Amino acid sequence: MKRIGMLTSGGDCQALNATMRGVVKALYHNLKDVEIYGFQEGYKGLIHGNYRIMKPEDFSGILTKGGTILGTSRQPFKLMRVIGEDGIDKVKAMKDTYHKLKLDCLVVLGGNGTQKTANLLSEEGLNVVSLPKTIDNDIYGTEMTFGFQSAVDIATNAIDCIHTTADSHSRVFIVEVMGHKVGWLTLYAGIAGGADVILLPEIPYDIDNVIAAIEKRRKAGKRFTILAVAEGAISKEDAALGKKAYKEKVKNRKYPTVSYEIADQILKKTGQEVRVTVPGHTQRGGAPCPYDRVLSTRLGAAAAQMIIDKEYGYMASVVNGEISKTKLSDVAGTLKMVDPQSPIIKETRLLGISFGDE
Ligand code: F6P
Repeated sequence: MKRIGMLTSGGDCQALNATMRGVVKALYHNLKDVEIYGFQEGYKGLIHGNYRIMKPEDFSGILTKGGTILGTSRQPFKLMRVIGEDGIDKVKAMKDTYHKLKLDCLVVLGGNGTQKTANLLSEEGLNVVSLPKTIDNDIYGTEMTFGFQSAVDIATNAIDCIHTTADSHSRVFIVEVMGHKVGWLTLYAGIAGGADVILLPEIPYDIDNVIAAIEKRRKAGKRFTILAVAEGAISKEDAALGKKAYKEKVKNRKYPTVSYEIADQILKKTGQEVRVTVPGHTQRGGAPCPYDRVLSTRLGAAAAQMIIDKEYGYMASVVNGEISKTKLSDVAGTLKMVDPQSPIIKETRLLGISFGDE
């Protein structure tokens, strides 16, 4: 009998269920006797021993279902070794649960913080296999994460919808796209949605360059301009501040997000009406797109193969376009950011799309 623990941790995304289904279907199909222990709400369930023994039916009909059937929660990595007010040693508690249930392996689906904890547990001697989840596509060691393409679809649709109303009203529109500290989602949705200006955390902008791009379009007779702005976009001025001073500035910022600050600056400097649209968490919701269903199924199968082969301490990944595996110790602690010198940025610039930096 193989006993496999499974959890989903961090922010949810569209293809978590599709991925769990991929892992479990392959395990059921290839192993005689397997029992899945589903931990509720991420690492919290592992810490508190809150689980249920899953049945094959639990994984049926969930390929197209967004969210996660196990529930999720954010358990910050930096607090994992900190004993809180409840007096619980979280790392010890997780190991205890694992050993008490006599698990053969723990399957972890999550983003960057989740991968760091997965690596910690692996270093603590548990058999861990992980899978790369996030709409941000910022996990190091994989070219693609599941959830990303589904979120690109939604953010692109938001920009598409803005086009018609922006045209009718001759307005400047900002669509703020998620992505945390990286710009992948904004870059892809911005290109796919035909945005005129794309602002990414990796390429600090100068508001005067942004305004110049808007003015250029106006002079060319264009009735509107659409800006795709990453929630983590940063001005050159703010980028020069250093991490601590910038954090402090953001804390005291009178605008809810960077997009509203940019909108106000454009209004003040040009008198042009600007509207901000924030699709927010809709980008993480709904059904996974077909690309993600395929990716999740393949990554799930790869994770199952690792379990069958007893190859632990890896994340199922995409390397050079192929399904692969990457050591958790290589994944943990590094963000995969957009390279400002990469071909996709150069190609986008060739079209005259502005990144606000020049
Ligand atoms: O990491 C996924 C993500 O959706 C980011 O793009 C975003 O910054 C963050 O999670 C939002 O987190 P929360 O759901 O906790 O508000």
